[in-house]
Parts: sequence; C-alpha cells; structure tokens
Amino acid sequence: SEGFGALGDNIDDYKLLFNNDLNELKSTVQNLKHAAHGMIFAKKPNLLWDLYDQKGYVMASTNNMQVRFDGLLGFPGGLVDDGEEPVDGINREMHEEIGLDLEKYFFSDEHHIASYYHAGKGLILHFYLMEVSPEDYCELELKTLSAVEYGIETCGIVRVPLFTMGDGVRGFPAYLANQFAGNARSELIKGLLAAQLFSEKEMSVALKAYKEYTE
Ligand code: GTP
Ligand code: MN
Ligand code: MN
Ligand code: MN
Ligand code: MN
Ligand code: MN
Repeated sequence: SEGFGALGDNIDDYKLLFNNDLNELKSTVQNLKHAAHGMIFAKKPNLLWDLYDQKGYVMASTNNMQVRFDGLLGFPGGLVDDGEEPVDGINREMHEEIGLDLEKYFFSDEHHIASYYHAGKGLILHFYLMEVSPEDYCELELKTLSAVEYGIETCGIVRVPLFTMGDGVRGFPAYLANQFAGNARSELIKGLLAAQLFSEKEMSVALKAYKEYTE
C-alpha cells in the first residue's frame, strides 16, 4: 500500500479494474459516476545542472500535474457528464482546465492505461497517458494560463521532478510526499512506468526513499 490518498482517502479503497470488471460494475451498480484524468509528457533526456544523471534517470523529462483549487495536486481532467463517454469527457476537461487545442491534440481510447473504482464514492476513475514532443509540451504548458478554468479549478500547472538528489530524497521522492487528489499519486507512479520514464527498479528505489521520508 502507498498509504493515504487525498486528505484521508485510503488508497486501498481504489481498486484497479480489469476489462470484465467494468461491464460487471455497470450492470450491478446504480448511479455510477465516471471521471477521466490524463498525464501529458515529453521525453527530453539531459543533465540538470550538469549533475543529476544518477542511475540513468531520464532527466528533465516533463510531465504535467496541476495545483487544484482545493490545494491538492492532481492531473487535469474531471467528471464525465451524463451521456458523455469518458474519452469525450477527458478531452472537454483538458480544454477547460489546460486549454488543450483539440484540433491538434486529443485523447483517444489508445491513450487509456488504467481504470480504478472507489466503491464508497461510486466513482470510476479512468486514467490516460499521452506523449507529445518536447517543443509541443512547452507550447501546451504556456496555453494553460489562458484556459477557461485557470484561476478557478486550476491554480497552476507543475512539472514533476524526475530525478533524486544526493541525499536520496529531494526530487521525485519528496514530490510524492505532497497531498494528491483521489488516487493521483498511484496514477503518477503507474504513468511514469508506462511511459518508461522510470524502470521498475528505479521506481522501487524512489518509493522506498519516499516511504522512509514520510514515516
Ligand atoms: P467540477 O467541474 O467542479 O465537477 O470538477 P471536475 O469535473 O474537474 O472534477 P475533478 O477533476 O475534481 O475530479 C472529480 C473527482 O476525481 C474528484 O472526486 C477527485 O477527488 C478525483 N480526482 C481529481 N483529480 C484526480 C486525479 O488526478 N486522479 C484521480 N484518479 N482522481 C482525481
Ligand atoms: Mn537558484
Ligand atoms: Mn474541470
Ligand atoms: Mn478537474
Ligand atoms: Mn467538470
Ligand atoms: Mn467544472
């Protein structure tokens, strides 16, 4: 277990769903709600301050999260409206929250990497992952400032530090000690592995450091 989610959510209450589970839930649980959030990343290996290349971490690769209105970190995205498919929901929310130009970039089913179910909330959380070029990433990042929800639901977009400093904690492990919305911390970990920005080995070293830091 990775401990606690946002302000008291127990991370163990978020169950990873497999293909059949989704259909079964839909036929057995009434009033299910859906939400869809996504991680946009770019790979740009380089050395930070000519220094942090330890253990082959990919340096300064970028990966966006947002500071939410509620003070928590989370991925852009949101609740899926009634009659809307999750993939349409994420595209709409991406436009609202980070000003994503849907003529140029949009999420499709191929970008979906995992779904989770929180029984207590009756909520299914769909998580998507999209790679863009480093140049496009920087352009997208600038656009967030003119998104319709900027200053309302979104209080800023942040890059996740993907390196660990000499003390073994500052950098990515310390970043994980922030407060996250829903199960965004688990999604971040899953997304970084799926994006191959971290190997399993590198992630287990980082998670061990994070756990020691927060104990
Ligand atoms: P409103 O338009 O005000 O309803 O907000 P929204 O549609 O943008 O919804 P929001 O992004 O707050 O997400 C809805 C639910 O998903 C909330 O219960 C959050 O706790 C949860 N949530 C928020 N961010 C994330 C995230 O990054 N990952 C996951 N899995 N859940 C999240
Ligand atoms: Mn300085
Ligand atoms: Mn929203
Ligand atoms: Mn949102
Ligand atoms: Mn919404
Ligand atoms: Mn809204």
